[in-house]
Amino acid sequence: MRKASTGRKRFFRPWSLAARLTVWYAVSAFTLVLTATGFLYWALVTNLDREDDQFLADKVHVLRAVLRDRPADAAALRQEVEVAPAARQYVAIQVRILDEGGRLIAETPGMGETVPAEVFPDPTAVALEPGTGTEFRSVTGKSFRVLAARAGSGREGQADYILQVALDRTHEDDLLAGYRRNLWLVLGAALVVCAVGGYWIALRGIRPVEEITRTAQRIRSTTLHERIEAAGLPAELLALADTFNEMLDRLEDSFGRLSRFSADIAHELRTPINNLRGEAEVALSKPRSTEEYGAVLGSCLEECVRLSLMIDSLLFLARAENPETHIKREPLDVALELAKVREFYEAIACERGVAIHLSSADGVTADLDRTLFQRAVGNLIENALAHTPKGGIVKLAAGQQDGSLRVEVSDSGCGIAQADIPHIFDRFYRADRARSSSKGGVGLGLAIVKSIAELHGGTIRVTSEVGKGTTVVLRFPRQSLPHASVAVQT
Ligand SMILES: Nc1ncnc2c1ncn2[C@@H]1O[C@H](COP(=O)(O)OP(=O)(O)OP(=O)(O)O)[C@@H](O)[C@H]1O
Ligand SMILES: [Mg+2]
Repeated sequence: MRKASTGRKRFFRPWSLAARLTVWYAVSAFTLVLTATGFLYWALVTNLDREDDQFLADKVHVLRAVLRDRPADAAALRQEVEVAPAARQYVAIQVRILDEGGRLIAETPGMGETVPAEVFPDPTAVALEPGTGTEFRSVTGKSFRVLAARAGSGREGQADYILQVALDRTHEDDLLAGYRRNLWLVLGAALVVCAVGGYWIALRGIRPVEEITRTAQRIRSTTLHERIEAAGLPAELLALADTFNEMLDRLEDSFGRLSRFSADIAHELRTPINNLRGEAEVALSKPRSTEEYGAVLGSCLEECVRLSLMIDSLLFLARAENPETHIKREPLDVALELAKVREFYEAIACERGVAIHLSSADGVTADLDRTLFQRAVGNLIENALAHTPKGGIVKLAAGQQDGSLRVEVSDSGCGIAQADIPHIFDRFYRADRARSSSKGGVGLGLAIVKSIAELHGGTIRVTSEVGKGTTVVLRFPRQSLPHASVAVQT
């Protein structure tokens, strides 16, 4: 699947964001300019047509007036039909008057060749009002606006006339052609401006994205402290930059912890290995008796056990951290399990002169991994025993609270300073470093308890008062989650 998409990418390289934005901007801006200029051109043509029609209608009214008021005045008619059109310099108008039967009465000289009578509607179909004109292009290529109207003399029993008027639009055609030429120039320039403007806007728009990319590219394990400058970023990218910076915070934190952890491992391994080496060197420095060799080997074995326990604990923590790790839950009688753990530590407690009290309501059950549960409670009891002086008490209690299982291990020991409490779950952290290391604690116990609680979906909380004692509370959900199946190796 992944391969196929990579292959597709190679053949159909996606457009860059800048290219997309440029095209979108250029297309939309150009469409806007095109629509605006198109509309203006249409408005101009329509206005010219309307003005021409009005001009023709005016002419019709003048002719009508002459025909109505002075029907016998041939000179006046000639003036309107032949002289007046010829006298015009810019507006070339041609007029033809026909009688009802379609016979020619008078026409502007030359009109017969340019705008023949057949161009106009049939005389019988001509209306009284001039209406709107139509376009006509003559054989010579000239354009005319033509219009026909009926013009009665106004007297009873007298015949009607058909008036045919044509307006030469050569002038307007030239004007419109010039206007179109200018429009094409404007549109060409607009296209270039839109494309360049769009590209500039796109570049400006994606500049913050490029800055984010550059920052991301710069980041190495040594520059994890770098952050994306959020000031001045647009709102949409602010969320991305914040998320990215938060991710870097988490990465920096995890990376820092990982480096400290590796340094701690090296440091913690060095002590027992140095001890082993020192003891072996001292033993080999001169011949020894069998008892002396036995004592050295015994001490070496102790160091080896300590080492192997530490490695086991580290392995456990590494496995527990794997998100695919599942635990093997089974319904447990909590009181019974706690009794077993207490029994296990009874001898050590006796030896130290500390009493372990167990109080648990009968019949409390929970879906837990037996081995992990015992290990967590065992670690807490070990801690309590290690920090409680002779004559002290370690209390073990369990019960239900708000639908979850609550297991409490409290002691009357030396307690933990408030400043240490936030760190005691860190690996290799020991509040009383000198004392614990001499006693063999490596500082992994509470980290393991915490990861066991979390593997069960539970929590751990510690309260302590120096000189009075410590209470650790574990909470586990009583019902198992649906996916728990594969056992983690313990
Ligand atoms: N009940 C307690 N009373 C006082 N201090 C405690 C108690 N439990 C834990 N601590 C402090 O917290 C530190 C961390 O405990 P944790 O169990 O993680 O390590 P550890 O006991 O030193 O070593 P490990 O458990 O790996 O053998 C201990 O070193 C100790 O200083
Ligand atoms: Mg411990």
